[in-house]
Amino acid sequence: MIGRDVTKAANLLSQGKLVAIPTETVYGLAANALDPNAIAEIYRIKNRPSFNPLILHVPNWEAAKLYVTNFPEEAKKITQHFWPGSLSILLPKNNIVPDVVTAGSSQVVLRVPNHPLTLELLNRINFPLAAPSANISNTVSPTSADHVKNGIGNKIDYILDGGRCQVGIESTIISIENGRVQILREGGISQEVILKQTGLKISVSTEKTVQTPGQLKKHYATQKPLYIVDSISEYLKENPTQLCSILYYEKQSNSPTKYSYFLSKDYNLSEIANQLFAMMRLADQDSTDCILIEPIKIEGIGRAIDDRLKRAASN
Ligand code: TXA
Ligand code: MG
Repeated sequence: MIGRDVTKAANLLSQGKLVAIPTETVYGLAANALDPNAIAEIYRIKNRPSFNPLILHVPNWEAAKLYVTNFPEEAKKITQHFWPGSLSILLPKNNIVPDVVTAGSSQVVLRVPNHPLTLELLNRINFPLAAPSANISNTVSPTSADHVKNGIGNKIDYILDGGRCQVGIESTIISIENGRVQILREGGISQEVILKQTGLKISVSTEKTVQTPGQLKKHYATQKPLYIVDSISEYLKENPTQLCSILYYEKQSNSPTKYSYFLSKDYNLSEIANQLFAMMRLADQDSTDCILIEPIKIEGIGRAIDDRLKRAASN
């Protein structure tokens, strides 16, 4: 069932049930993070590997502090700027957080999502919500209540409908070790924005000292193959018999096929992120053989878009 009833969502969650919740990034599949049975149900419904930990969603910074042993200065600075928002942070957990939430790790990822309905919900309950994206593992993340319904709607009790997700791409995950801020997953808030707002330099070493187990090479995948090609027109010339859906970063005055999708009017990276998953789904439903897209500009939120496309294309 889909609706906007926060009380109903709160009651179901308090009974150990699962509810899909809106966030500004993607919809989450939420359960009481302190209830190991409810957490097991998340893994089961998503068909998620048990080694892949879950993000803890809390209403504010004070609530976040309840679940960690230490909140370093850099973390304070960053969360002051970006919470509520699309930034998640890895910190040492205390023993209130069940091991199943972190897949056995001594560290937990926390986030305060920026969505009015979900903030109202989090303020009403007295436990944190564990919530991965509300899709079957490895498929495209949901950015509307309908996406959730089409994917796992018949397996959960309620979908809290908060409309379309404004950011449209998952949160940025960072870690802080000895004052060193590292990006573990590119996402809605770019390293440029973190630097600009906090003055903290982001270490972009490819040798990450921590891994996010969920960042598998193949992820966010459409059913049909998605190809990142240097030139769409060249590709079409070389493969004249293939019927392709095409994702463009900006409006084209004349497109080579009716299966064309425009992710933004004028190559606007935020708009592209906002539309990406929804358009990947539409292209996947066309009667074509494959999906084509050119490489994205590697700057700002373009880094997160690039990450999602490469994983979707990695078949
Ligand atoms: O925007 C988001 O972050 C969305 C919304 C619903 O909040 N959530 C989301 O969750 O994207 P999920 O489960 O699809 O992705 C979480 C990522 C995974 O790659 C997981 O491995 C990593 O975060 N992660 C979670 N807890 C971790 C931990 N304790 N240590 C390392 N990585 C962790
Ligand atoms: Mg996910």
